[in-house]
Amino acid sequence: MFEIKVPASSANVGPGFDSAGIAIGRYLILEVTKSKQWKFVHDTKLIPDVLHYKNHYIYKIAHKVAKDKKTSLTPAHVIMKSDIPLARGLGSSASAIVAGIELANQLAELNLTEDEKLAYAVDFEGHPDNVAPCLLGGFIVSTVINNEVFYKKLPSFKTEAIIYIPDFEVKTDHARKVLPKNFSLDEATRASAIGNVMLSALLTDDYELAGKMMEADLFHQPYRAQLIPHYKKLQTIAKRFGAFGTIISGAGPTMISFAPKGTSQKIIQASKKAFPNFEISSISLDNQGLIIK
Ligand code: HSE
Repeated sequence: MFEIKVPASSANVGPGFDSAGIAIGRYLILEVTKSKQWKFVHDTKLIPDVLHYKNHYIYKIAHKVAKDKKTSLTPAHVIMKSDIPLARGLGSSASAIVAGIELANQLAELNLTEDEKLAYAVDFEGHPDNVAPCLLGGFIVSTVINNEVFYKKLPSFKTEAIIYIPDFEVKTDHARKVLPKNFSLDEATRASAIGNVMLSALLTDDYELAGKMMEADLFHQPYRAQLIPHYKKLQTIAKRFGAFGTIISGAGPTMISFAPKGTSQKIIQASKKAFPNFEISSISLDNQGLIIK
């Protein structure tokens, strides 16, 4: 038996649209035992059961990888645990993709390198900002040029983090449709300059400035705010109680704050009062990414 453990992720990090992402401490876990027949059992309320294994998203990913490598998978009994909610902006599909690739890697003994796993993951997901931190942990900045993924793993933030998970879903497809199709050169220049300053601030531990730049994003948050009624109010409350910055996690509707050490509890208390139906908690930042035990 072996275990595959993959963290959730918070993509975009403000102006790092489709490029920056950070691994966070919620997990998808597969407990895998080689068997005569395939079987997936869900030990989580967050993911509905799938009747036939061939329709299971993780099986489909594993099967595609094995097929691409011209081999087949040994059947397995898979117990799946997860505390990553679906369609909330915490990279649940990216975690499933990374888990599926690793399932194929283990069951078909493919000996994939990290770069090969990442290339498959980006191919399946379409952009690297969730799958890269899921796989590698930490804060990853990445891009894809001519189908090749380029990335850097940077030190994780020396801040506390708080997540605010609302009681409704936003599908990524829908959240992408509200974005403009094109930006003028002037708009693109201003938006990418904000991203450059945010990254420079993060690299020099200037979280005050980084938080400002996160909230000043021009690429996606101004457009997605219309899908997220709590957007402005949460930013204001978190800021009042000390947060550096509060942003949409991935495509939303979850938001995430980065805050100075020792301030989380006050921010959590105040935001819970304003949004009693939300799941609001501190979250650790994961630095390990995919683990196989
Ligand atoms: N970068 C992606 C987006 C993350 O914001 O649409 C969600 O898949």
